[in-house]
Parts: sequence; C-alpha cells; structure tokens
Amino acid sequence: MSVITNIEDLRVLAQKRVPRMFYDYADSGSWTESTYRANESDFQKIKLRQRVAVNMEGRTTRSTMIGQAVAMPVAIAPVGLTGMQHADGEILAARAAKKFGIPFTLSTMSICSIEDVSKGTDGHPFWFQLYMMKDRDFIERLIERAKAANCSALVITLDLQILGQRHKDLKNGLSAPPKLTIPNMINIATKPRWALGMLGTSRREFGNIVGHVKGVENMSSLSAWTAQQFDPALNWGDVEWIKKRWGGKIILKGIQDVEDAKLAVNSGADALIVSNHGGRQLDGADSSINSLPAIVAAVGKQIEVHMDGGIRSGQDVLKARALGAQAVYIGRAMAYGLGAMGEAGVSKALQIIRNELDITMAFCGHTDINTVDRSILLPGTYPTA
Ligand code: GLV
Repeated sequence: MSVITNIEDLRVLAQKRVPRMFYDYADSGSWTESTYRANESDFQKIKLRQRVAVNMEGRTTRSTMIGQAVAMPVAIAPVGLTGMQHADGEILAARAAKKFGIPFTLSTMSICSIEDVSKGTDGHPFWFQLYMMKDRDFIERLIERAKAANCSALVITLDLQILGQRHKDLKNGLSAPPKLTIPNMINIATKPRWALGMLGTSRREFGNIVGHVKGVENMSSLSAWTAQQFDPALNWGDVEWIKKRWGGKIILKGIQDVEDAKLAVNSGADALIVSNHGGRQLDGADSSINSLPAIVAAVGKQIEVHMDGGIRSGQDVLKARALGAQAVYIGRAMAYGLGAMGEAGVSKALQIIRNELDITMAFCGHTDINTVDRSILLPGTYPTA
C-alpha cells in the first residue's frame, strides 16, 4: 500500500483485510442505500468561501462537547461489532481516542465489554451508548456497569426499536462470531492478518450481553437478537426512566425531525444527535446535513446539537460546525481505520480528519474553530432552516 493520505485509502485497505460480512456490515445502508449515499454526497454540494491575507498563525481546533474539553469537535460514534473489524477493536479504538483527546462511544452491541474497554484504557472515562431492551433488569444492570466504569455520558439511541433491513447482512448471514460455513471459511482464509488476531483474543461475542442476559436463543445474529430483545415500545417515558437511573449527562441519538428535537429538549437531555443512523434505518429519509439547520434553528439555543452521518473528512466537520452543530461523530471513518491497521489506523483516521479540518479552516480565514459560522459557506450552496 502506498502512503495513506485520506479516509478512502483506509476504506480500501479495510476492504482487503476484513472478512466480507463485517466489512459489508459497516459499509452499507438499508434497502436502496439512498440515504446512506446522500449523507456523503450532500456534504459535497456545500461550497466553501476562500479568504486570503488573513494571519493563519496559532490555529486551534480545540472545543467542547457537553462541557468536556475535546482536541477537535469529533467523537467516535458507537458502532456495533467493532471488535469484528479487528480483534479487540473497541479497546484499540478507545485507546486511540484517549491518546488523541476526543470521546469514544462504546455501543451496547460491542464485542469488547464495558469492563474490557475500561480496563484497556486504564479507567479513562468513555461514553456508553444504550439500546432499550424489553428486559429492564438487564438495562438497570447495564446502567450500573456503565457507572462503575466511570462512563461520563450515556448516549440513548432512539431510532432502532426495530432494525432497518440491510440486504448485504441478510445475504452474508451476518453473525458474531461468524458461522463457519464453506463460503465464510474460504473468505476468511484470504484474511490471515484478521484471523490471526481473532485467534489471539477471547473476545468474539457480544461482550455486554453474553453471560448477562437470560433466555436469548440466538445470541450471534444481530437481526434475530434485535427482534427478540429490543423494546419496540420505547417512548419518552422510558427516556425519563433511564435519566433517573443514570443521573449523569445524557445525549439523545437519532433525531431527524424538529418536533422530536423539541421533545428532546423537554426531556432535559444535555445534547441531541441529528442522525439517521448512518442511513441504516429509514431509507428515503433526508441526509443528516440537510436535516441539521432546521433543528439548530428550532432548539439550538436550548440544547447542544451534534450530528453524524457522512463525515469522511475534516471539511465535512467544518461544514457541520458552520451549520450549527457543536460537534460530529465518526463511525465508518473509525471502522475503516481499525480494519485497515488496528489502533494505528484509528489514530491515522483522526490525524487525517484534524489535518483537513485545520487547513480548511485556515483557507476560510479562521484560526479558531469556535469562531466558525455559516459565513464561511457560499450562499445558495448550503441547506437552510
Ligand atoms: C446497529 O446499531 C447497526 O446500525 O447495525
């Protein structure tokens, strides 16, 4: 592989090194994938205004998320099965985030457990993403485990009571660990680096769940598991129930609509994430970046607004900031780095994004990320409220 200079290079390398079912799991959306594609392509439509002869010295990308200092306004998104992109993936990504100085969010559907990540980062605080399950005893215990691990925010996902249909996952028979069918074995045989890593770890199942939940028949299949366990009746009363038990910072993930954003404010959450789950749930929904301005206009003064979906460069981060997002999350950019090169690949992804953010900010005439607003964008090229 030649020199890696952008996230696309990491994606190409990850595709070579990660078994097809796990690579496809990350690089896919639901149904026609139109929302998945729009998340990226709608960023491309937004044009920047170049300014010249502005002093570019002493630049900074430092900012805050829910009052916590961050080296740049980017957090690692919760991504299910991250530990299948690379052995011990969640631990490695959390270490890279810790070294870089940005938040790492652990998915409920992770391979490494809450306790594994805490131990692997020497007790450094991370964020925990919660899916609401029918088994409330389990949820209470999960919340207690997140508290015990020193998690400094709970990210409650609101857009996945049921799973959007992803054709590739169904065709590949996605499961963790992978079922050793002939096609899977043939495919894994072409990924020796991945296989060796997996043989060297004991973490190959859903670490937050296995051994903690009774009566789940098929723990390995994400779709079967979701259908059995996730609570389709999730509502705002449950958010209140979780908030009371957690007692700390709350971030609500999966808001696409202004009416829901107002309900998020009423719930007393600290932040909301404008998100369509990376185009993996409701295909045909608008892109995240298009949905952002109306939500910022409606509730931006009352709650911190974050966004995810389609961030593949520091330029995307800057555009989201310009349109009112306090911060963004990267899921696939992280997963590609991890699949390509483990912890070093995640660090590389973060360096690439910060470098692009820093240089683009300078070209647009700013030296401090916190002064950037929509005046850096070319009128008529960006979505408005
Ligand atoms: C789970 O969060 C998924 O999108 O697969």
